[in-house]
Amino acid sequence: MPDLFEPLAVGSITLPNRVLFAPCTRHRANLDETATPIMIEYYGQRASAGLIISEGINPSTLGRGYYHVPALNNSEQEGSWRPITSAVSARGGAIFAQLMHAGRLSFPELLDGRAPIGASGVRPDPDFRGYTVSCPRPKEPYPTPKALDEKDVRLEITRFADAAARAVAAGFAGVEIHAGNGYMPIQFLSSNTNCRSDRYGGSIAKRSRFLLEIIDEVAERIGRDKVGVKLSPGFQFSDVRDDDPVGLYTYVTKCINDRRIAYLHVSDLHPYYGYDVHVEWYPLLRNIFEGVFIVNGGIGFEQAQQILSDGAADAVAFGSAFIANPDLPARFRAGAPLNVPRPELFYTQEAEGYTDYPRMDELPSSHTAADYRADFADLQPGT
Ligand SMILES: Cc1cc2nc3c(=O)[nH]c(=O)nc-3n(C[C@H](O)[C@H](O)[C@H](O)COP(=O)(O)O)c2cc1C
Repeated sequence: MPDLFEPLAVGSITLPNRVLFAPCTRHRANLDETATPIMIEYYGQRASAGLIISEGINPSTLGRGYYHVPALNNSEQEGSWRPITSAVSARGGAIFAQLMHAGRLSFPELLDGRAPIGASGVRPDPDFRGYTVSCPRPKEPYPTPKALDEKDVRLEITRFADAAARAVAAGFAGVEIHAGNGYMPIQFLSSNTNCRSDRYGGSIAKRSRFLLEIIDEVAERIGRDKVGVKLSPGFQFSDVRDDDPVGLYTYVTKCINDRRIAYLHVSDLHPYYGYDVHVEWYPLLRNIFEGVFIVNGGIGFEQAQQILSDGAADAVAFGSAFIANPDLPARFRAGAPLNVPRPELFYTQEAEGYTDYPRMDELPSSHTAADYRADFADLQPGT
């Protein structure tokens, strides 16, 4: 069985290793949702990942969920990504763009005064709050979203395809459709947020249609070998729940498998949040999905090697460890200590806590990883 340092064919590209950078929102984009020069440095520093999956990128003018998050819905935004994809490929790396549509997890302030949209007019639990502006402003309860009619559902699907085409034009090797963590596609998938009675709601098959039509339309536009999907089955943190998560995710995974896309990325954040329902998702879905299977969520080096040697996945994506260690594959290979992430700087707009994590060869010889240990609360992944 392979280990983390063996190449892996994904779609039409071959990754040099299986240590992937999980998508991580970092709030370093401009307010017009263009990417910034500091992002060139950040992604370039992490080009030794087998594959970088970018931070969530908004595919629609109605998909914005935070300030300082980038988008791919006009030519200026598209152009702003070109130096980033070039920096990554100049260093021998590859990067997919993660398309992340916030749906109901947004505010009129972020949408030019328009109401956030959702599968149905179901307001997120007021205890689950979001930032109307960047941290450190206090979080606020989300408003009730506007339910999309069928015509507008189709429009948002097409926006994913348009953004995918822009991503490829900007030099991304492909796109990952974010169908987890409480955002738009999982709002259609989940029984508590989708109360529709048309072709996009009701049965599991109908609730899955939104995601499957996005996959089909994106694949039609850029090629199925350039399409990945992220699922976070069992995820409840953003007030998304399903009456029958096993039935839902086995069905969705079968349908995704039929589409022969580049990969399926399954993120189980149970280690962080603990859910009411816990299922061994990796083996369950691995048995259904025959293509490249990526897992993520609280996984360390040794566990990752074990997962690969058991054949339980083809690659592992690392979030916070890759944020803090731009040379993560080299550190794993050397058995070197890891820098510790500084979560209080995850969502600021500065270079500090973004591009200043040292590589192994930049550490003064007297330094140990503990020297970089900052005071931080228990790690909480973002979304
Ligand atoms: C700062 C931060 C931002 C994140 N942003 C995203 C995101 O944009 N899209 C996404 O799918 N997941 C996002 N996540 C979740 C990660 O992709 C990953 O699932 C999570 O960090 C667990 O993996 P880890 O234990 O290796 O960090 C984010 C996590 C962090 C820490």
